[in-house]
Amino acid sequence: MNILMICLGNICRSPMAEGIMQHLLKGANIEHLHKVDSCGFETFHLGEAPHAMAQKTAKQHGIDISRQRQRLFCIEDFDTFDKIFVMDSGNYNRVKSFSTNDKQMEKVDYLYNLVSPGNNTIIPDPWGGTSADFEHAFTMIEKACKCLLKSLN
Ligand code: 4NP
Repeated sequence: MNILMICLGNICRSPMAEGIMQHLLKGANIEHLHKVDSCGFETFHLGEAPHAMAQKTAKQHGIDISRQRQRLFCIEDFDTFDKIFVMDSGNYNRVKSFSTNDKQMEKVDYLYNLVSPGNNTIIPDPWGGTSADFEHAFTMIEKACKCLLKSLN
């Protein structure tokens, strides 16, 4: 399964989601069966490593995301990935604006719908926030990724 995690900047939430999911897959010894990537829409941090607070939060949980680099969503991602997860409604609408058919949007869902299906609960953007905001986002993402792992087993 090819899994894409998306947020606005691709320096806070989706890099944590990519790192958490890869970490969980590794822990289950199935990392060779699945590809995980992340991207965003804003060009401000193109090619940069994740936000220092995102790196720090992940590291506190034993996950190194320092080697990730920011990239933008592109239309080919609809073909490359089987499941595309967004963090909030802004992300969802941005992905939708790229889509040219319903089949593409069938691959897209809110990440937290893995925890509470159909509720479209958002994972709040911690950018500019406190370490508690980053920890809160991490906790929500981890919970969702654990559900995703279960669905892959
Ligand atoms: P993210 O947070 O979407 O969780 O990566 C943001 C990071 C940067 C910006 C926006 C959101 N920005 O506009 O630069």
